Amino acid sequence: MEHSEIKSLLRTSLSENESRDVVVKGWVRTKRENKSIAFIALNDGSCVASIQIVAELSLPQFNDDFIKRISTGACIAVKGLLVPSMGRGQSVEIQAHEIEIYGEANTEEYPLQKKGHSLEFLREIAHLRLRTNTFGAVLRIRNAMAYALHTFYQERGFVYLHTPVITASDAEGAGEMFQVTTLDIENPPRKDGKVDYSQDFFGRSANLTVSGQLEGELGAMALGKIYTFGPTFRAENSNTPRHLAEFWMNEPEMAFYEIKDNMDLAEEFLKYLVRYALDNCREDLEFLCNMYDRELIARLESIIEATFTRLDYTAAIEILKTSGQKFEYKVEWGTDLQSEHERYLVEKHFKNPVILTDYPKKIKAFYMKQNEDGKTVRAMDVLFPSIGEIIGGSQREENYEKLLGSMHEFGIKSEDMWWYLDTRKFGTAPHSGFGLGFERLLLFITGMTNIRDVIPFPRYPQNAEF
Ligand code: 4AD
Ligand code: MG
Repeated sequence: MEHSEIKSLLRTSLSENESRDVVVKGWVRTKRENKSIAFIALNDGSCVASIQIVAELSLPQFNDDFIKRISTGACIAVKGLLVPSMGRGQSVEIQAHEIEIYGEANTEEYPLQKKGHSLEFLREIAHLRLRTNTFGAVLRIRNAMAYALHTFYQERGFVYLHTPVITASDAEGAGEMFQVTTLDIENPPRKDGKVDYSQDFFGRSANLTVSGQLEGELGAMALGKIYTFGPTFRAENSNTPRHLAEFWMNEPEMAFYEIKDNMDLAEEFLKYLVRYALDNCREDLEFLCNMYDRELIARLESIIEATFTRLDYTAAIEILKTSGQKFEYKVEWGTDLQSEHERYLVEKHFKNPVILTDYPKKIKAFYMKQNEDGKTVRAMDVLFPSIGEIIGGSQREENYEKLLGSMHEFGIKSEDMWWYLDTRKFGTAPHSGFGLGFERLLLFITGMTNIRDVIPFPRYPQNAEF
């Protein structure tokens, strides 16, 4: 007999005397027993709730020795009758007729014996934390958000473009790259005192990508509207609850979009994702709301209603300077905003998501469109409550000479970027795009507070074990 998903069984409504033959398979969350009955809570990952299995100990198979082997963490298959439940908290349960034990979990060794382990402890057992209710909920939401992301773009005619993971360029120009090489790092070939990368695998030095944007722009200049979605790597040594060394980024890039179109798309996109989560991940959100963050669902709902506040960097600096608020980092025109500043604007001043535009040229990337004032660029960052920057984007500099000029200013070798400059040489067009940090989005949607808890296997300084 084929086994059923616990999620769909829990949704079955049975009348009083109705029953149904079923098979379920999953992992034991808890077991309690009295003299005559064992109650097993079984979870198969299909939903946060477990189904109650009732085993009558008078059945010969369910003798003491057998029942003892069914402990928290064990994997079993249960054949029995789905019946209405007398107990509180569930409408159906399974009266077990046969149980097969696939794998036991030694109670002395299995680390998830009790509920309520700290998230810090669970990070040390990332291989098993997936079996907790919390990570089940987070990972199902993550899955739903990936699906919704694709749906959003596909419904609007965007082409999913696969940009390379290995590249020779530093798209953001911040030098935070992981090198990719097959050279013997103990003893690399040298020429004129320097490592001779011409002998490396690609005949040049290469790295893991920090962004798919530059290739994304090549796509947009041919296909009109594209998006990328994939892993992104940054060797920034920032041990914060908002940074990962390997994170997933989604980057749409659109020909003929100016900054305002870009902002409109970002706002529509974020609201779409939030609404999708509210409509499709209700049980998991309610679980997280109860466990971690009472305000979660209300906060998500408020985003859908909000019209994001739009203002430029210069105005934001004025607000921060006259706020009377004590910040750890000083606010000065020309310096980058820290997360404390972003959160002040969003959470205290506007009490609303904010899209900040027109940042000083010096603190943004070389490819952004230069404003007429000669000082600022057409950047846009979307700032969210409890997160700070969730999206970073801009209109791109489409003028060949201006782009070349800013490459020189930023010390970027234009000869290495000839292929990127070619888009401005051949049929250039106004275009814009942005990057959504997928894990930052998930922090917002799930209410988790550490980015290491919204990706199955986080990569951060000193950690790449699992
Ligand atoms: O602002 P960033 O650096 O922008 C870019 O990479 C552009 N190429 C995007 C574009 O215009 N196509 O990164 C975009 C977003 C940030 O807003 C943030 O949400 C996320 O990526 N992000 C990180 N998320 C987790 N860990 C990190 N180390 C991150 N760095 C950036
Ligand atoms: Mg940014």
